[in-house]
Amino acid sequence: MKNDEILRALNYRYACKSFDSNKKINDEDLKLILESGRLSPSSIGIEPWEFLVISNDELKNELANFAPGGKKQIPTCSHLVILLNRNANDLKADSEYLNELFNEDKHLPKEVSELLLKMIKDVNDNRFKNDEKEINHYSREQTYIALGTMLTTSSLLKVDSCVIGGYNAEAVTKLLSDRNILDTNHFNISCMLALGYRNENPAPKTRRTFEEVVKFIK
Ligand SMILES: Cc1cc2nc3c(=O)[nH]c(=O)nc-3n(C[C@H](O)[C@H](O)[C@H](O)COP(=O)(O)O)c2cc1C
Repeated sequence: MKNDEILRALNYRYACKSFDSNKKINDEDLKLILESGRLSPSSIGIEPWEFLVISNDELKNELANFAPGGKKQIPTCSHLVILLNRNANDLKADSEYLNELFNEDKHLPKEVSELLLKMIKDVNDNRFKNDEKEINHYSREQTYIALGTMLTTSSLLKVDSCVIGGYNAEAVTKLLSDRNILDTNHFNISCMLALGYRNENPAPKTRRTFEEVVKFIK
């Protein structure tokens, strides 16, 4: 891919406010976007995310009631991705999740998985003093990396998107856990990503200049 094609894709992306509800993302493109999230990097490789992909109109409308930042986007988008992050219980070094991840899922030699679990323990004990809020924040930070990757993949595929951070977390958590879609013993809601195809003309992109943002230290 040429540099100008990458730049064009990055400029193509904007925070879409209104999607064409008749246009649905095909399975192949949707899978690639989600796959790019799954393949994202995370601190110590903890992959503390899961992605709920909602296409049910009734549920989308209910969720929109609790999301002032996505009132128009959520009902009209093709798919709403809700990014979940593992809570502090799952990020303890002796948790079932991390032990399965490092000892089984990743097929690591025993000494490597032991080293990684020790790193997690040190981070929790020393950096976060085992404060659940701090550990949750650390977990959530990782999911934003997956979010960024999915945004870029979407724009390369000319799929429009809008990150939705403007929602009532308590109400959305209750709605999804009441429906047995969200297990709050393991996950918190991190953020939402509406995906689909634009039904509007976006305003021109506005950003601080390259020189204001980037400082080269030689
Ligand atoms: C973490 C985060 C949360 C956001 N929440 C919302 C939101 O709730 N509703 C919305 O319309 N846009 C939301 N946005 C989009 C930003 O407002 C938008 O990306 C920013 O103004 C830059 O505009 P652009 O993306 O069109 O270039 C969010 C973006 C991020 C990164």
